[in-house]
Amino acid sequence: MSEHRIEVSINGRNHKAIVEGRKSLCDFLRTDAGCTGVHVGCEHGVCGACTVIVDGAAVRSCLMLAVQADGCSVTTVEGLAAPDGTLHRVQQAMREEHGLQCGFCTPGVVMTLAALTEGTDRPDAEALLAAMSGHICRCTGYQGIRRAALRLAGEAAGDAA
Ligand code: FES
Ligand code: FES
Repeated sequence: MSEHRIEVSINGRNHKAIVEGRKSLCDFLRTDAGCTGVHVGCEHGVCGACTVIVDGAAVRSCLMLAVQADGCSVTTVEGLAAPDGTLHRVQQAMREEHGLQCGFCTPGVVMTLAALTEGTDRPDAEALLAAMSGHICRCTGYQGIRRAALRLAGEAAGDAA
């Protein structure tokens, strides 16, 4: 068993840890850093529930090892709202458009949308909708998620339910 010392910025706070080489980033975030908003579904890159932002990009944390995050800046859903509790605009859009039911898929959906909307007031609607194809939701029928994505792009949902 190999162990490695890593240092990762998680939601703006530095975390130092010694981890097994085989430990996934999602397990590290949940068990070592306490970020249980990182949900683990399929554990092989299909469902998108474990998505976090690593150095600005949406990443499936079940497919990345914790050691690969050494020196990186990671944002989980816990780090998205402002310190005073004001929701991130993606969280607000999901709330307003009823984009969630049980909430299991939601952190992953939110983090993907957050990564794609970062730094722009008018993200590309097609890109947002295409990215949602990488998330499995068993509850919503996707229409609320779709409306939230379109709201972020400044577009009306059209035929959405
Ligand atoms: S748990 Fe990572 S993609 Fe499903
Ligand atoms: S809201 Fe339940 S899986 Fe998406």
